[in-house]
Amino acid sequence: MTRAHVIVLGNEKGGSGKSTTAMHLVVALLRLGYRVGSMDLDARQGTLTRYAANRSARAITMGAERLPLPVHVPIARSETADQALAAVDERHRFEAAFEELVATQDYLVIDCAGSDNFLGRLGHAHADTLVTPLNDSFVDLDVLALVDADSLEIQRPGAYAELVWESRKQRAMRDRGTIDWIVMRNRLSALDARNKREMNRVLERLSKRIGFRYVQGFSERVIFRELFLKGLTLMDLAEAETEQLKMSHIAARQEVRMLLEALKLPQPQAALASAS
Ligand SMILES: Nc1ncnc2c1ncn2[C@@H]1O[C@H](COP(=O)(O)OP(=O)(O)OP(=O)(O)O)[C@@H](O)[C@H]1O
Ligand SMILES: [Mg+2]
Repeated sequence: MTRAHVIVLGNEKGGSGKSTTAMHLVVALLRLGYRVGSMDLDARQGTLTRYAANRSARAITMGAERLPLPVHVPIARSETADQALAAVDERHRFEAAFEELVATQDYLVIDCAGSDNFLGRLGHAHADTLVTPLNDSFVDLDVLALVDADSLEIQRPGAYAELVWESRKQRAMRDRGTIDWIVMRNRLSALDARNKREMNRVLERLSKRIGFRYVQGFSERVIFRELFLKGLTLMDLAEAETEQLKMSHIAARQEVRMLLEALKLPQPQAALASAS
């Protein structure tokens, strides 16, 4: 039996584009014809859950054959005040949903909250591929590394880099698996070339030091957010009769494709062949 390849979206910094990237990866994989599961570990905010609901509602009017849907499961944080009990409860609910989805889907996309919590750590420890979107600013880089203001030398790894280090240990202990960690830049603007260059320099160096692959992500584009309420993404645009495909839409679609390529995900057929 094959198991789904697990892609986790994580970053301790809020608002970096985890949920946006999750939605676009889910739909890009669905559009390639794969079965996709999704889990929302930030069920309180529930961005991915809301998106899945919007998309399901849309599929009712458009027809499910024209709008492929993920099998989506939100996992809420435990309401128990007792921390030990809450951990047991969260682990139990996470693992039940996780096992079901990896056994029945080709890919599983897990969206985490923008803060450190038990559910998020569980998600990270189950990742095959970890994608960390990063806003194009030194303010956001801070969770990855502390950088000297004048020399731009890396002084020490940041809090989130330590969390990933810990998750890699957990993953190795659990099943000797490894996590392929990818840092992608998000909301890149055409302006501010100097900041872009300096971020580039630091990220290149940091990638070797703390072990991630560094890829270009998404530019700042309205199309990455404006279809949210309709439950669509730019990968569905041909389906949305009201939308006109503009140059910026085509460019955005290309960015999603390039990200998918850069992730170098295993193809489920290949997994099937090697399993048999
Ligand atoms: N490439 C982009 N272009 C334009 N807007 C974007 C882009 N990426 C994200 N956004 C917008 O930025 C905001 C934050 O994005 P998102 O909710 O995906 O981040 P997040 O990391 O999931 O946040 P949180 O930590 O709160 O869960 C949203 O309003 C989203 O629409
Ligand atoms: Mg989010």
